[in-house]
Amino acid sequence: MPVSRELFRAISSSFPTGVVIVATLDEHGEPKGLTSQAYMGLSTDPPLMLISIDRTSRTLPALATHRAYVINFLKEGAEDIATLFASKADEKFRNLRWDPAPEAGGAPILRGQSLAYAACRVTEVHDGGDHVIFIGSVEAGETLGGTPLLYYKRAYAGWPQERPAPPVEGAR
Ligand SMILES: Cc1cc2nc3c(=O)[nH]c(=O)nc-3n(C[C@H](O)[C@H](O)[C@H](O)COP(=O)(O)O)c2cc1C
Repeated sequence: MPVSRELFRAISSSFPTGVVIVATLDEHGEPKGLTSQAYMGLSTDPPLMLISIDRTSRTLPALATHRAYVINFLKEGAEDIATLFASKADEKFRNLRWDPAPEAGGAPILRGQSLAYAACRVTEVHDGGDHVIFIGSVEAGETLGGTPLLYYKRAYAGWPQERPAPPVEGAR
């Protein structure tokens, strides 16, 4: 018999992850998005990224019709935005600056909150139990720099360590 929902959640929350905002456009061209940790860099050649979206998500219909999305990889300081996008608020983008990604049909890039982003076009959609799995071809993207935002046991935190300095030639 499968484990209980509580045990599944307890096991899953033992795994710290980065945090992304998946963003797309609805049929009226309005931006929609949600906070997610179910991201996977699925394949390098061809470049594919996978996301998994709950069937109750209000962003899901927009993803299904627009068939393109931007994965915004959040940086430290974006905790409030992560909380907003994990809510059911209307017009999550109202007070946010965003740029349209032409390679993802104009889906929103959140440069100010992101370490990097990837603009994807949907190539496959799969059943994932109470989630829907989207696989997208990475058509464009950029790394912007910064400290990653992490999520663990229902709390956000910045990556705790400084990045090691690059080796200096001749140093022991
Ligand atoms: C850290 C974190 C990770 C989450 N990961 C996912 C995820 O991978 N997939 C998903 O569908 N929802 C995930 N959620 C929940 C959604 O963000 C939440 O249900 C949100 O209200 C959905 O918004 P929407 O209905 O406007 O799409 C996550 C929430 C948090 C706080």
